[in-house]
Amino acid sequence: MLDTRKIGVIGAGHIGTAVIGGLLKAKLTSPKNIMASRRTSSNLDELAKSLTIHTTTENRKVAKVSDILILAVKPMNARDVLSEVKDLIQPSQLIISVMAGIKTSFINSFLGVQCPVIRSMPNTPVLVDAGATAISKGQYATDEHLKIAHTIFKSVGSVEVVPENLLDAVTGLSGSGPAYIYMVIEAMTDGGVKMGIPRQIAFRLAAQTVFGSAKLVIETGKHPAILKDEVTTPGGTAIAAVHELETHGLRTMLINAVSTATIRSKELSKIIENNESL
Ligand SMILES: NC(=O)c1ccc[n+]([C@@H]2O[C@H](COP(=O)([O-])OP(=O)(O)OC[C@H]3O[C@@H](n4cnc5c(N)ncnc54)[C@H](OP(=O)(O)O)[C@@H]3O)[C@@H](O)[C@H]2O)c1
Repeated sequence: MLDTRKIGVIGAGHIGTAVIGGLLKAKLTSPKNIMASRRTSSNLDELAKSLTIHTTTENRKVAKVSDILILAVKPMNARDVLSEVKDLIQPSQLIISVMAGIKTSFINSFLGVQCPVIRSMPNTPVLVDAGATAISKGQYATDEHLKIAHTIFKSVGSVEVVPENLLDAVTGLSGSGPAYIYMVIEAMTDGGVKMGIPRQIAFRLAAQTVFGSAKLVIETGKHPAILKDEVTTPGGTAIAAVHELETHGLRTMLINAVSTATIRSKELSKIIENNESL
């Protein structure tokens, strides 16, 4: 699908590099079709060496050659980068943004070009090809553009298509979600250590338990409540622990965490759009 289309990545940091890696691993394109930029040339040299792609510190070079332009700088750098490449962007170029909180309408109006824009919200597990990414199309993007973005993010995990107004909620759920799960892994590890398990063993057991449980949910498609019921033997250990978690409102806490992060995402989006400081 991507054929020989030139793919540019402005802001080849964690997410940008993970996407490039995914594209190459999935053989969706070849290194010669990819050009990436960032400001630090030593990091670019490493990238050029490890992935054999074209690299440059000049964002304008990337914008000029790309059929598909992935914007992966931090949201606070968005205005600078968009201003820098503004006069080069053509209506035929597909822009895929991973920048949190930046609306497709903002990108179109800032550039002053009616080019197709796809906005995405990945999460850090894209670094290990297990990301959860949601994508939305802007006003000038078609289903074909959505398909291209879907193919790109599918190379680093799963992809959901949602209307753009849900991306703040996605940020609160899967975008920020890894932080909640890391806290769970850390706390379960501490629980194991408290009960006498050496830390490294407890840590591996906790992490694998989260990984395996998620895999079981995904692969069986069973409702998590059913899977929970399957591990709670009457009068047993798991139900005793579930009671403890319910007493302290685990589920309410997580629901509140997602909604609080969603509200914060909306606030940040306004701050960025109005060019205010945090
Ligand atoms: N991390 C997450 O969990 C996550 C989840 C969803 C979405 N996102 C979004 O993904 C984007 C990237 O996040 P990240 O975690 O990959 O951050 P990151 O690792 O800091 O990557 C951002 C990159 O942008 C480069 N950069 C900064 N200013 C630039 C400029 N003017 N021109 C060219 N490159 C520039 C930086 O490199 P130099 O300093 O060398 O220029 C850096 O490599 C953000 O917009 C974030 O909102 C992140």
